[in-house]
Amino acid sequence: MPKLTIDNREVEVADGATILDAAGKLGIEIPTLCFLEVCKPSTSCMVCVVKVEGLVSLVPACATIVRDGMQVESDCNQVHEARKAALELLLSDHLGDCLGPCHTICPAQMNIPLMIRQIAAEKLSDAIATVKEDIALPAVLGRICPKPCERGCRRAAIDEAVSICLLKRYVADVDLQSARPYSPTCKPGRDKRVAIVGAGPAGLATGYYLQQAGYGCTIFDDHEKPGGMLQYGVPEQELPRYVLDNEIALIEKLGVKFLCKTRIGDMLSMESLRRDFDAVFVATGALETADVESMGLKAGSKGIAMDGKTYQTNLPGVFAGGDAVHKRKLAIRAVADGKEAAASIDQYLSGQPVTGPAKPFNTRIGKLKDDEKETFAACGSESPRVTLPEQGDGFTDEQARIEAARCLHCDCRKADDCKLRQHSQSYQARAGRYKGDRRSFTQQVQHPEVIYESGKCIDCGLCVQIAAEAGEKIGLTFVGRGFDVRVAVPFDYSMAQALERAAGKCVAACPTGALAFTG
Ligand code: SF4
Ligand code: SF4
Ligand code: SF4
Ligand code: FES
Repeated sequence: MPKLTIDNREVEVADGATILDAAGKLGIEIPTLCFLEVCKPSTSCMVCVVKVEGLVSLVPACATIVRDGMQVESDCNQVHEARKAALELLLSDHLGDCLGPCHTICPAQMNIPLMIRQIAAEKLSDAIATVKEDIALPAVLGRICPKPCERGCRRAAIDEAVSICLLKRYVADVDLQSARPYSPTCKPGRDKRVAIVGAGPAGLATGYYLQQAGYGCTIFDDHEKPGGMLQYGVPEQELPRYVLDNEIALIEKLGVKFLCKTRIGDMLSMESLRRDFDAVFVATGALETADVESMGLKAGSKGIAMDGKTYQTNLPGVFAGGDAVHKRKLAIRAVADGKEAAASIDQYLSGQPVTGPAKPFNTRIGKLKDDEKETFAACGSESPRVTLPEQGDGFTDEQARIEAARCLHCDCRKADDCKLRQHSQSYQARAGRYKGDRRSFTQQVQHPEVIYESGKCIDCGLCVQIAAEAGEKIGLTFVGRGFDVRVAVPFDYSMAQALERAAGKCVAACPTGALAFTG
């Protein structure tokens, strides 16, 4: 039985085993895309490459048989760069949106398409969980947000944008009016406390997310009631105060403490906050330079100077966000700051490097061609945008369902389990590094359960092999030449005829969103 070392660790494997098998035995993870144990290796992706001592080129671990005495490196810079380049080459010829355009444009990065599908399926308790994953005050923002997400909505290229903001408000209002409004589960207490200065949208959001993460949060505010500019700056007819108060009450119910009529400076010094708490988040709203400096913080051109990615200030353990750092006065931006700062504060308090929230990997289709608009249009209902008689009204159940059915499902059906996306995230691959000709977006939807989007196919051939082995009469094949090779149904058969038995297996094997379940 041959013995080899991988990253200086010795292992013995059976005759005929591959480097990938050996790595698996050692618990060393090597990324793969085109490999599946039950299929013959095609070595089409080269994402699994490793370095073998004495060989000039890197070799695919999935198809290289172990020789006795082999010395393999799986974790050096050369290997990392080669894997990244392999991913970037695949991405140069890849067409799809991992996340919906509305999702990526929302300052709070809310998963809008998922919320809309949950509304359409009448799963409103799932929808509120989706919304509150990213937006701590959705009933408030459903009334006052300037709706940047709707400017990015793909449906606008067909008729009018989906009414995303009112759908979010609908979900939040139904929840607030229910007997038991949504309350997320908090992690067990971590024995660490965070002081939040300012009970406006940024401070409230930070408290909401850090309390869930197990920290004890106290929010200080110099006004009589929490809410900041939402409480004292927005007209009542735009934002009825009971809505704000009810959403704040839900934050309080999580365990967040509020100390109002307490002004930093006069009654409370930054020094004492830093002494009594493990971290401080400053979200006071706009500040003059003198106020910033009196707290021992450095001032920038727009308020407190801080790192734009991590929200860290010059004082260790002190973070700042919202209008205290940029005078944008957009409540959704402040709520987004609060969520992102909470991620950094959590990293800081749990002893991890403070890097801020990770940016999710995303590929984009960009502007649609006319025929592509038609393809997308077929994914939503033909109804026009639901309009409401009075400004300030919310959707009824029926209106919400009609509006939700207009959504085109722009996000990828496999965004959460696409291996290409996962590896691209891990290797920090850039989708636009190598520019290729953009192919056309197509969808084959004749199969009752499976949808095929050829722009997301990486030609691994797994589905072709699986369909053949399952005894499919028609099955799948490769068509085209050179870079234009793609999997397709032969002749004029439909996908439903091609995959009568193996559809589920093919979807499970497909490493991307090229083959996915509909829905
Ligand atoms: S197939 Fe993967 S990489 Fe492509 S759009 Fe879907 S999730 Fe993103
Ligand atoms: S159609 Fe739906 S998924 Fe697409 S951008 Fe608009 S809201 Fe988002
Ligand atoms: S459609 Fe088939 S060939 Fe294309 S990526 Fe998926 S499994 Fe591979
Ligand atoms: S070449 Fe090994 S997984 Fe693709």
